[in-house]
Amino acid sequence: MREYTPENITDAVLEQMSTTPDPRFKEIMESAVRHLHAFARDVNLTPAEWIKGIEFMTKVGQMCTPARQEFILFSDTMGLSALVNIMHDKTKMEEATGASLLGPFFRENTPKFESGAQIAKGGDGGATEVVLYGRVTNAQGTPIPNAQVTVWQTAADGRYDIQNSIEEIDCRGIFSTDDKGNYLIRTVRPLGYYIPLDGPVGQMVMAQKRHGMRPAHIHFLISAPNYRELVTALYLAGDEHLEDDVVFGASGDLVAELKPADPASPVPGLPSIHFDFTLSRETEADRRAGRVGGDPAATTAGNGKATGAYGAPPPEVLAAEQQKKPGFLGGLFRK
Ligand code: BEZ
Ligand code: FE
Repeated sequence: MREYTPENITDAVLEQMSTTPDPRFKEIMESAVRHLHAFARDVNLTPAEWIKGIEFMTKVGQMCTPARQEFILFSDTMGLSALVNIMHDKTKMEEATGASLLGPFFRENTPKFESGAQIAKGGDGGATEVVLYGRVTNAQGTPIPNAQVTVWQTAADGRYDIQNSIEEIDCRGIFSTDDKGNYLIRTVRPLGYYIPLDGPVGQMVMAQKRHGMRPAHIHFLISAPNYRELVTALYLAGDEHLEDDVVFGASGDLVAELKPADPASPVPGLPSIHFDFTLSRETEADRRAGRVGGDPAATTAGNGKATGAYGAPPPEVLAAEQQKKPGFLGGLFRK
């Protein structure tokens, strides 16, 4: 009878799994087993620590609903989403705008708007109104007419609609570029925000004494036939968390200036962000590559659990924030 030891158990598992017919599944599972075992040996994982990990991941799964994707958040805070995104971005066939995280607040249910429309309910004429404009071109600089430009962001209170309820749709929209490749969107100034800290991932982030914030940004998903889909975001210049984004999504090439008065803006008199996007042509592999992220309703299909409002920072985080900057969070987060 064979005796398992810390040294031979990994090979025993790999040997048993060697019958896997799908070569890619085999490669991924073999590597996962090798690295998991190496990790357990490396830290000399105890039974109590092992069960703590199992309980943690169970809670992460239980937290997922059609409006909340705690597993994506876990991947984001571990830098895994950023790693997969960066690796994928390097495979594009042409120089183009860099990718950024899709995040857990993207949703398929997004209204279409005419060029120049305001996506924030009650945003028109508000103090934080902002214009986004620019061009979508190919790698040679030729404009791409009729490209689909999907945007989503926080409302002026620093929260995404989906955090309040699955029925609420706000601060997101689908636009099309005109015949010269131009897009024009009105919105409100997004705020930097705490990722949802009121679940197991938040517990982990707070136990690590991380601040848990993302810099202010606006998400873009841009697509056109025969071009590789671009999932990216623009980060507002000057934000204090550009260098230490809790999910490692911000990068220098995606930092955009919010100009109070840009003479070139199609809507003079409003603050604006000008950014031109470049799309790479699509390869066969791009068509199969998928996205790092997804609408929670799709990734939790069949779960069907209802979600109440979520993501309000826990009281200890708010108290610490108030001490640092009195008044900063006043009225920012709806409960
Ligand atoms: C976001 O930008 O929407 C996001 C990304 C990762 C984690 C949390 C939020
Ligand atoms: Fe975001």
